[in-house]
Amino acid sequence: MNRGRGYRVTRKVKVFGAGSIGNHLSNAARRMGWAADIYDVDPAALERTRSQIYPGRYGAWDPEIGLYEAGEGPRDKAYDLVFIGTPPDSHIRLAREAIAGKPVAILIEKPFCTPDLNGAQELYEEAAAAGVALFVGYDHVVGHGAQKAAELMRSGLIGKVETLDVEFREYWGGIFAAHPWLDGPADTYLGYWQRGGGSCGEHSHALNLWQFFAHASGLGTVVSVQGTLTYVREGKLDYDDLCLLNLTTEKGLVGRVVQDVITEPPRKWARIQGKDGFIELHIGFEPGIDMVRWRGTDKQVHEERFNKTRPDDFILEMTHIDAALKSGVPGDSPIAGARGLESMMIVAAAHESARTGGTVDIDPEGGFTQAAIKARSDD
Ligand SMILES: NC(=O)c1ccc[n+]([C@@H]2O[C@H](COP(=O)([O-])OP(=O)(O)OC[C@H]3O[C@@H](n4cnc5c(N)ncnc54)[C@H](O)[C@@H]3O)[C@@H](O)[C@H]2O)c1
Repeated sequence: MNRGRGYRVTRKVKVFGAGSIGNHLSNAARRMGWAADIYDVDPAALERTRSQIYPGRYGAWDPEIGLYEAGEGPRDKAYDLVFIGTPPDSHIRLAREAIAGKPVAILIEKPFCTPDLNGAQELYEEAAAAGVALFVGYDHVVGHGAQKAAELMRSGLIGKVETLDVEFREYWGGIFAAHPWLDGPADTYLGYWQRGGGSCGEHSHALNLWQFFAHASGLGTVVSVQGTLTYVREGKLDYDDLCLLNLTTEKGLVGRVVQDVITEPPRKWARIQGKDGFIELHIGFEPGIDMVRWRGTDKQVHEERFNKTRPDDFILEMTHIDAALKSGVPGDSPIAGARGLESMMIVAAAHESARTGGTVDIDPEGGFTQAAIKARSDD
């Protein structure tokens, strides 16, 4: 595919997981002109991809995509990119195994891992040692709306950032509608917070977006979390349906994140309040439209709308990854793996805060480990 700069870029992509996200990522890769093979442990998921999900979403099955049971497939084939679109409790193991194949990069879906953070620091170090770039699937931060909001903020239009609010409140009926083969949360990791489910893990797009704006405003990384979570504990089920977080960064920015799997119709919203004005981002403001609204020193409210479809979000994500790799500094990307791990530190701290009932500090020098997360003893 000619990409307009006089050279041809083709990449070979290996996708783990023939589920909802595996289909989106494979379609986006193909739209980039890349080759894609999908691997799944469940032959029924591969068949569902070929006969239902892919043609249902994108119009027709693409016979160029290889479908393989995990552990099978062409042994001598080297992949440039590995996308991990399986449940969160398998992400770290699959990513660590993938490093041995020396891909250029590995994209790990959100949430990056389970809240116990097992293997997270090891993966981070092993990828760095092997020169493999890590990315995380928080696609909203590379979307047009979030990028526009960050650009306005950086322009100084609203003055010093004083507080930040982000909410992803969405009843998860929509997720189950997209997975008709599941009966409900008990059937999947979604019903178990320790496996990466519940509102804190599933809607962690919100806390990641909060971090994105905090970094973009130069106010640094989150160092303390005070969380109020409500848990549904029925039979085997054990998940948080509501997660309220107060966050503080190393440079003293204080703000709030709300995530739930209850609210209907959904509200996905961010507000950056500055000394001289505000910026709001409304994701899914209307079907197929994201909207940014702002008011600066001119005291006028402005608005910009962005048309998009969900498949477009992932094409934008691929375009971003491609550009980040070509830039030579993929670690500077807002979806670099380290950002996904920072988000996991907040998820882990949130559950610890709910357990202890107090504020939990995160040591930014302590690595992506449980040891870096400490309940404040004076609370
Ligand atoms: N970025 C986004 O907006 C977004 C959207 C949807 C899902 N996700 C994330 O993607 C991940 C998967 O979600 P989903 O909705 O696609 O789940 P899903 O249940 O639809 O699909 C997961 C698939 O992975 C397969 N699988 C499990 N273990 C495997 C292994 N070891 N090797 C290969 N395949 C394996 C399962 O058989 C299943 O087919 C989750 O972490 C989820 O949060 C992200």
